Formats: sequence, C-alpha cells, structure tokens
Amino acid sequence: MGYHADYSSTENLTKKETLQHVLDSYTALETSNWVTNLSNCSSLLWHAYHSLNVRVNWTGFYLASGTNTHSQSRELELGPFQGKVACQSIKWGQGVCGVAASLKATQLVANVHEFPGHIACDGETQSEVVVPIVKGDDVVGVIDLDCLSLSGFDEVDVEYLEKLAELISRCL
Ligand code: SME
Repeated sequence: MGYHADYSSTENLTKKETLQHVLDSYTALETSNWVTNLSNCSSLLWHAYHSLNVRVNWTGFYLASGTNTHSQSRELELGPFQGKVACQSIKWGQGVCGVAASLKATQLVANVHEFPGHIACDGETQSEVVVPIVKGDDVVGVIDLDCLSLSGFDEVDVEYLEKLAELISRCL
C-alpha cells in the first residue's frame, strides 16, 4: 500500500465513530513490526483527536524495559509519538505513566496540576489519559495522550483506548 490518506480522514464523525475508525485503521495497517505499528498509531490518534477539536498536544507510547520480575528497576522508555520532544525514561511508579504501569490501571487525569508527581514534559499540558498495554499478566507499555484543555478526556476515550491497547499488545 502506498497511499494512506483515508486513514486520517474522520471529518464529521461522532466521537465514538472517530475512535472506532482509529481501531479499524490500526487493524488495517497492522504489521508484525511494533515500531511501524506504534508510529502509525500515534498519527492516527493525533489526527482523530484534532478532527474532534480536542486539543491534544502529545499522542504516543512508552514501552517497558526489563521484565516484571524486577519491578523495582523497571522503567518506561519513550516510544513512537506525535508532539514535542518528551522525557526519554520514566521510573516505574512515577508520573501519570509510571503510576498507570505499576497499578496496571488506566489513569484519567482531568487536571495534571492536581496529580501528585505528574511529569511535565510540556508545561502547557492541562489533562492527560494513560492506558496500560498488558500482555499476559505483564504491563509492556502505556498509551499516553496529553491535552491543552482541562478535562480533555472522558470515559468514552478510556473505553476505546483500552480496546486499542488490547490490539497493540499483539505486536509487543
Ligand atoms: N506526563 C507524563 C510524562 C510523559 S509526557 O506527558 C509525554 C507523566 O506524568 O507520566
């Protein structure tokens, strides 16, 4: 395939339709290479949210290093993303990403300034959602979305991003 414009076009769709389009497009574009998949996925998320007029300023991934038997020394390492440059590594249990990874639980943060230990890669970020990517019993990475508005994400986002995390876990 050489032409992928259709995968980024979600004008005039509802939020659920747009997020379903992300899931469908991810599946259609899926390869056996995780870098390829997560790179296109960060683009799909970026354009989907912008078409919904949600002011996302970062859409991307952190991947877990090490194994779950050494959780004290585990870290999250920066993966493919869209947006400004970001911190390269995050300690397990620190920041919104590290908490999502260590608790194996989605973090929906309406106001990042009220989240203890939030790591500000971009000082303009106001809200964030982080969804763990789980393979077997192990957290292998997280999906991270930042927004320039307070309460940028809700339970509908969580529902679809958790489905996306399940699809992504197949290639990690
Ligand atoms: N805010 C995140 C750090 C990653 S950046 O948002 C891209 C956190 O607190 O874990």
